[in-house]
Amino acid sequence: MISALTRLFVFTCFVLIVSFVVLYNWGDEWAIFTSVALLSIPLVYSYINLARLGKYIQSDGVENMPLPSGLWEEVIFRLQRLVKTLKQKMRVIEQQHEHFIEAFQASPNAIVMLDESDQIEWCNAIAERFFGLNFKRDVMQRINFLIRRPEFIQYLIKRNFDEPLLLERMGPNGSLSLMLQAFPFGNQRHLLLVQNVTDLHKADAMRRDFVANVSHEMRTPITVLMGFLETVQSLDLEKSQRDQYFEMMMSQAQRMKSLVEDLLTLANLEANSLPAATNSVNIETLMALLRNDAEALSQGKHSFSFTVDSAKNILGDEREILSAFSNLVSNAIRYTPESGAISVKWGVNLQGLGEFSVTDTGPGIASEHLSRLTERFYRVDRSRSRDTGGTGLGLAIVKHIASRHQAQLEIESTPGKGSVFKLRFPKERLTP
Ligand SMILES: Nc1ncnc2c1ncn2[C@@H]1O[C@H](COP(=O)(O)OP(=O)(O)OP(=O)(O)O)[C@@H](O)[C@H]1O
Ligand SMILES: [Mg+2]
Repeated sequence: MISALTRLFVFTCFVLIVSFVVLYNWGDEWAIFTSVALLSIPLVYSYINLARLGKYIQSDGVENMPLPSGLWEEVIFRLQRLVKTLKQKMRVIEQQHEHFIEAFQASPNAIVMLDESDQIEWCNAIAERFFGLNFKRDVMQRINFLIRRPEFIQYLIKRNFDEPLLLERMGPNGSLSLMLQAFPFGNQRHLLLVQNVTDLHKADAMRRDFVANVSHEMRTPITVLMGFLETVQSLDLEKSQRDQYFEMMMSQAQRMKSLVEDLLTLANLEANSLPAATNSVNIETLMALLRNDAEALSQGKHSFSFTVDSAKNILGDEREILSAFSNLVSNAIRYTPESGAISVKWGVNLQGLGEFSVTDTGPGIASEHLSRLTERFYRVDRSRSRDTGGTGLGLAIVKHIASRHQAQLEIESTPGKGSVFKLRFPKERLTP
């Protein structure tokens, strides 16, 4: 490409030579006319090229403009190169921006970017859900107008963002606990990071309840035991009376022992891996064991029927299955008054699920208790359950064992008539 200066020099020489020739042959008027005419050629050429350039700029396609020849070729060529480079850089920046947005959207935490006046510059979809925001509607709105919780407004006013803030009863139906913290960045901007700590919070509350319950359950027999010990120690009792006290002490010690055993069972269930579906648990053997234990516990006070309707066995852990089944049978015996009837059945139902059921003619359970029966330490009638030695952990253990075998525990009960406890095992947990 010939440089602009060379072109200018060549063109000026050409105009001068032609003008001198005209001046020499036709006089000065023709010479002026010729030089003006020659000089206006680049002007017209420039005007045409400028007009074309304007058109291409307007349609955002400078880089597609065909290169003119002459002086403008180099200018337009350089311009096209610059536009191409800038557009390429813009595309890279746009892609990076999109990646950042995608990463922030993929975060399980809510993210809100605030400007120096606490106005929302950007927020992700989780933040919209947590706080009922709508980014398109709420962009550049002050966040304290949208999240109206007093503790949050105080947090923003104090501007001490070293500590996180816990917001409870948040979310669309007030069921979320959120941990929020502001982090300064850029020029007095803030990034609000919000973590959903609902499950952690619930687990923490459950742990506290559990410790309180265990302590309470242990304290009662210990207090009673100490009372008996003091009596035996301080009073000069006859042998028969002393034996009676020892028997009562024994029953309290037994209570503590069964509580500790149940707690250990639960801890083991939680710690162990899921039972493999390879070991077959023989139902006939299991039913025979259950019948023996049931008759020993009932001491002839109840009538029993044990039925096996299907030859299918369960695939799972024998000890766990036996523990779950005998928990249900011992409940039926303990809560059914004398001369009641208890029926224990194994079969396969119409849907092909394995079904173990224990039906009794006991006092039944009011419907409001049914959903809570499997909670740890939950008892319908605390005083009566205590008389029968229950700790309220039996059904929690049954439910745990059931879920480890992908089985469902179903309870039906009519107060005054009796209850049915069913364990339903999926087809995959049955032998062919
Ligand atoms: N067959 C039943 N009939 C009536 N009430 C029952 C029956 N089975 C359980 N319940 C009620 O459900 C409560 C919870 O039962 P669960 O087996 O979990 O605890 P528990 O029997 O009190 O103690 P544990 O089984 O740990 O010795 C019992 O306290 C009792 O009130
Ligand atoms: Mg029980």
